[in-house]
Amino acid sequence: LQLDEKYLRPETKEVNGIPMTKVISDIWDQIWSFQAKPDDLVIATYPKAGTTWTQEIRNITYKQHPFIEWEMPPPLKSGLDLAKEMPSPRTLKTHLPVQLLPPSFWKENCKIIYMARNAKDVLVSYYHFSRMTKTMPEPGTWEEYIESFKTGKVLWGSWYDHVKGWWDQKDQHRILYLFYEDMKEDPKREIRKILKFLEKEVTEEVLDKIVYHTSFQVMKHNPMANYTTLPSSIMDHSISPFMRKGIPGDWKNHFTVAQSEAFDKDYREKMAGSTLTFRTEI
Ligand code: A3P
Repeated sequence: LQLDEKYLRPETKEVNGIPMTKVISDIWDQIWSFQAKPDDLVIATYPKAGTTWTQEIRNITYKQHPFIEWEMPPPLKSGLDLAKEMPSPRTLKTHLPVQLLPPSFWKENCKIIYMARNAKDVLVSYYHFSRMTKTMPEPGTWEEYIESFKTGKVLWGSWYDHVKGWWDQKDQHRILYLFYEDMKEDPKREIRKILKFLEKEVTEEVLDKIVYHTSFQVMKHNPMANYTTLPSSIMDHSISPFMRKGIPGDWKNHFTVAQSEAFDKDYREKMAGSTLTFRTEI
């Protein structure tokens, strides 16, 4: 695959104050006017919060779950084109903050599953992902990356605003707000919540199969789920695998005590006044 330079370590450009790739920012009008359908299901997440896991529960791959705002380098198709071609009922993936979700999703009252994960594990995962994924901006050093994350100078913007923004909308719309840490603690319980939200019933046997098939170990070795089918010019798994650790608490292997304390202090200020709480280990 010959990648046009604009996709590699791409330039960023803001959309309403949120850093996006320049490629996305340039076609923003098309994304904003995306036409949702009432039976669309949206999987919304901040990057690295367990998007792929949630997708796998619904049955994955980039073709089956178009990533609405993402521009793939040709000949791969963009999220918008894949979504438009897809027969209903569609499942669509997005990392957009709540205020940037195309308004037709609200108008059509679509169901949305939002998956959230604690900030420190997201930061670690996003850092390694940015190192191995050539279509993401360079993360810089670990120290630099902590600062970029805290100040929201990463693609899709501030984690703090993202998780709070979706949390504040969850009771006004059909949003199921889930946590990565809960999924890890009791996947069966959380998958039951998803099935109930989707008004689907399955036998205990099928439920057990879903739990097995969507476990980290099975997904890590499933080429349809672990992104190893993408060319290494896009993702280089020798730098860091996409299916990296898959646990809450790996941040402890990355943050020094001083970094963790500074992070927590800033975190308390940014999250003050919100009823949203996270577990950083289970
Ligand atoms: P780590 O880098 O911490 O291992 P996303 O899909 O939103 O990009 O998130 C990727 C993160 O989810 C990675 O985290 C990945 O390992 C983890 N993940 C993917 N599938 C998982 C599963 N079945 N169970 C637990 N974690 C999973």
